[in-house]
Amino acid sequence: MTSFESNKPIGIFDSGIGGLTVANAIYRHFPNENLIYFGDTANLPYGDKSADAIRYYAIKISKFLLEQNCKMIIIACNSASSAAYEVLLDFFKEKTIFVNVVDPLVDHVIEAEYKKVGVIATKATVNSNVYKQKIQAKNQMVDVVQLATPLLAPMIEEGFCNDEISHTVISKYLSDKSLNDIEVLLLACTHYPLIKKQIQSFFSSDITVMDSTDVVVDVVQHFLESKNLINTSEVNAPVFYVSDYTKSFEEATKVFYADKVELIEKSIW
Ligand code: DGL
Repeated sequence: MTSFESNKPIGIFDSGIGGLTVANAIYRHFPNENLIYFGDTANLPYGDKSADAIRYYAIKISKFLLEQNCKMIIIACNSASSAAYEVLLDFFKEKTIFVNVVDPLVDHVIEAEYKKVGVIATKATVNSNVYKQKIQAKNQMVDVVQLATPLLAPMIEEGFCNDEISHTVISKYLSDKSLNDIEVLLLACTHYPLIKKQIQSFFSSDITVMDSTDVVVDVVQHFLESKNLINTSEVNAPVFYVSDYTKSFEEATKVFYADKVELIEKSIW
């Protein structure tokens, strides 16, 4: 059974609130699409987990989203996109469309012809080497510097986004010498758009700071149009599932969605 029908929902998942940055971009650009979000709050942070563990979570969550008939699943997490994208394509074959958050950024780097690229991400994403491999597979001349910034996602998840603590942590990471001379910094974790202003203000304005919300919308648009999947029937309020109910997640959804969000706790293990 496939789920390629235009009135079916788009599924989006992440370990926690980070993927809400992607969900919010999708919600704003495609107000007529039905959205189902899954935050795997029971297992966050993904960034410290092994690739095998992340693959296991990603398969379970995708199965659940497919049971909800999702016509498309957006892996709104760099750690899961790097560890599990190819596995998900293989495991679920043609059952749905998978969109990851790594490829749109890689394509942007190539199109914009950057020559020195900085990447900050979780340990899982940096250890996978996915950005370096994918960028250099398209252009060997691009210098890619990857820096693990493991404190950032938990810090953001705890609500430290614009205060002394976050300022100190951000400055410490971004002062790393390896980031000298970069032209663009990729925020390769979907939590990081929540501290994008602070990151941008650390650098001079000639360094571009990019995140996946800047580019993933175009990829989603392309699939919806080319596969004739734009919803033309009724639209419902987005549905939010979490694997473990947390107050911080509920608070975070309010930042993105003015309406009261109904959080549904769902154990899928
Ligand atoms: N937001 C995720 C990412 O893009 C995961 C952060 C985490 O859970 O460690 O990598």
